[in-house]
Amino acid sequence: MNESLLSVRSLVRSFQAGGETLEVLRGVDLDVERPTSVAVTGESGSGKSTLLSLVGGLDRPTGGSVVVDGTDITTLDETALSAYRSRHVGFVFQFHFLLRDFTALENLLIPGMLASRGAAGTRDRARELLDDVGLASRADAYPLELSGGERQRVAVARALMNRPRLILADEPTGNLDERNARMVEDLLFPLVAREGCVLLLATHDRALAARAERRYELAGGVLVPA
Ligand SMILES: Nc1ncnc2c1ncn2[C@@H]1O[C@H](COP(=O)(O)OP(=O)(O)OP(=O)(O)O)[C@@H](O)[C@H]1O
Ligand SMILES: [Mg+2]
Repeated sequence: MNESLLSVRSLVRSFQAGGETLEVLRGVDLDVERPTSVAVTGESGSGKSTLLSLVGGLDRPTGGSVVVDGTDITTLDETALSAYRSRHVGFVFQFHFLLRDFTALENLLIPGMLASRGAAGTRDRARELLDDVGLASRADAYPLELSGGERQRVAVARALMNRPRLILADEPTGNLDERNARMVEDLLFPLVAREGCVLLLATHDRALAARAERRYELAGGVLVPA
C-alpha cells in the first residue's frame, strides 16, 4: 500500500504549439510521505506552474500519475476532480483572486460553501484564520480597502479554510514588496505546519524557497534536488 500523501510518478506534460510539441514536464517524480514544505524553483518557463496545475487538478497530464491520499487524480472525471480541488487543495496564486464584492470574511466563507462542508465553513473558523494572518480587525473590509499584502494574507487564510491536505502556492510573494513578502512567508510556513498540510511552493523568491524543508529545481523537465 502506498502511504504517501502525495506521489507524483513519471509525470509528463507536453503542449502542441505551432505544429511543434513542447515537452515541458518530461518525467517528474515526487514523493511526500508526511506534512512538509517543498519548494520548486527554476527558470521562467521551466514548468513550475504547469506542475502545480497538474497536482491541483486544474490540468491533465500527457502521461504519468498524481496520487493524493491513495487516489490517482488523473483518472477522475470532471465532477470528481472539481470535488478534489475544493476539498483537498488550497490554492494561493501570485494574484490574490479575492472576490471584490465580498468582504474578507465572506471571501473565506465561500470555499466552504462550495465544498458543501457546513462544519468546516463556519464563521468561527474564518474569524480564527483571519486572526492567524493578523487581520481579525479587517474581517468586514472589502478587497479594495486592503493593501496588496493584506489581500495576499486573506488569500492564504482562504486557502486553509476547508482544511485541505495540500496547499499549492504559485509565486505567493510575486506581487509583493520585500517587507510584505517576508510577512506572508512568516505566516505561511507556521500555518501550514500547524494545519498539517503539505505545502508545494513554486517561486523565484530565494528567501521563500530557503524556508522550505525540501527544495528542488525544475530543469530539463524533471525535478533535481537543490
Ligand atoms: N496551455 C498551454 N499551451 C501551450 N504552452 C503552454 C501552456 N501552458 C504552459 N505552456 C508553456 O509551458 C512552459 C512552462 O510554462 P510554466 O507556466 O509552467 O512555466 P513557469 O516555470 O511557471 O514559469 P514562470 O517562472 O515564468 O512562472 C512555457 O514554455 C509555456 O509557454
Ligand atoms: Mg509560473
